[in-house]
Amino acid sequence: MNKSFYIATMGCQMNEYDSEFLAQQLMEYGYAPADDPESADIVLINTCTVREKADQKAMSLLGRLTRIKAKKGADMVLGVAGCLAQKQGQRLFDRFPQLDLIMGPRELTKIREILDPVLFQQRKMLATRLDLPPLNASKTHQIQKGQVCAYVSIMQGCDNFCTYCIVPYVRGREISRPPGDILQEARLLVDQGVKEITLLGQNVNSYFWEGPGNSYTFPSLLEMLGHIPGLLRLRFTTSHPKDLSDNLIRCFQDMEVLCPHLHLPFQAGSNSVLERMKRGYTREHYLDLVDKLRDAVPHIAITSDVMVGFPGESHADFEQTLDLMKKIRFDALFSFKYSDREGTVAAQLHEKVGEKEKRDRLKVLQSLQKEITLQKNKTLEGKRVAVLVEGQSKKGAQLMGRTATNKIVNFPRDKGNMGDIVNVVVKTAFINSLKAE
Ligand code: 5AD
Ligand code: SF4
Repeated sequence: MNKSFYIATMGCQMNEYDSEFLAQQLMEYGYAPADDPESADIVLINTCTVREKADQKAMSLLGRLTRIKAKKGADMVLGVAGCLAQKQGQRLFDRFPQLDLIMGPRELTKIREILDPVLFQQRKMLATRLDLPPLNASKTHQIQKGQVCAYVSIMQGCDNFCTYCIVPYVRGREISRPPGDILQEARLLVDQGVKEITLLGQNVNSYFWEGPGNSYTFPSLLEMLGHIPGLLRLRFTTSHPKDLSDNLIRCFQDMEVLCPHLHLPFQAGSNSVLERMKRGYTREHYLDLVDKLRDAVPHIAITSDVMVGFPGESHADFEQTLDLMKKIRFDALFSFKYSDREGTVAAQLHEKVGEKEKRDRLKVLQSLQKEITLQKNKTLEGKRVAVLVEGQSKKGAQLMGRTATNKIVNFPRDKGNMGDIVNVVVKTAFINSLKAE
């Protein structure tokens, strides 16, 4: 019988992409996907460590899987991949002696070299190099049957070193993929039936590639990809406000295929907090950017990330965050409690905000945002929206798709087929979705 593998994915879209890449590599190696870890010969967890909660989730899953491994013994290979693996390295072997392999996010291309000694020599493998070339799935990226939307990574790593963030330490220095590889991968996906591509990178605005005789910035990369026949929608994430150029804003105006949605993390509304985060912009600059974007494309949706309780964040600082949210009125907001990440500058700062205070601030912030999101969604009631049909609704009885502005819409089955863009009228707006008919 064919040997099988199971990959559990935690964390961000980049990790989902990385897991798909890993799965592809394992399938080429002759392994078949298993439905659950119990029945798999190789079990990998692709981990996240961006916030403390992510660590806790990964550790508890690891605990569960090591118990399965204890029962199965040498019949099961158990490995940890991704950002937590990079951060903890050998310490994970010390804590979980049942583990067979530990590999950082930059090592995924080397999966066969890492697996072979585990499989054939019963060795434990620790692979955490960061100076490796970016993943290249331009010839191998296969989609699931019926998949309409897909990710393409355009760069790896990050050079920004925001003082709270662990990503530059675990994903290494920023490196952009060659535009030809990105184009090839996007075409391969569209040939398989993909209609929407989301370009991924920790800071896509600083994409830069230089070859003999030509160079590419992020806007020129977008322009090139915009011409792929059959690609209906193009998106990207994540952007850094300090690198958002006028040229990129122009792309939103000029390129029909580029969806009018921008995820632009602001993190904090107070200039003194932004400075201590080393974000490289002020609240005024952020507000200006949003004005420019809305002048250029009035219906653009803007979403963001924010955190509460950065070391030294006073009540007045926090009020500035709420004030910025009221001024901008984001379409949606991902909000987090600050947590110390080992090795970062912020972890060394004094004046830590207490857990209860962070919880209280998060609650206030989230209830404000809920109100704003609902009000914004309600303005769509009675309006006709264009939705790309992606699949079944969560409850399964309806179809689900998203507007170009990235709002989830559920609607009756007879309204369209998977992969079509259909026009539906919004009947009821909720916080996280719209119901149409
Ligand atoms: N604590 C809390 N939130 C964090 N983020 C990144 N690092 C931390 C941290 N140490 C949040 C930021 C980022 C998102 C991916 O995670 O808001 O944009
Ligand atoms: Fe998590 Fe950040 Fe790593 Fe993504 S890049 S897996 S969010 S730590």
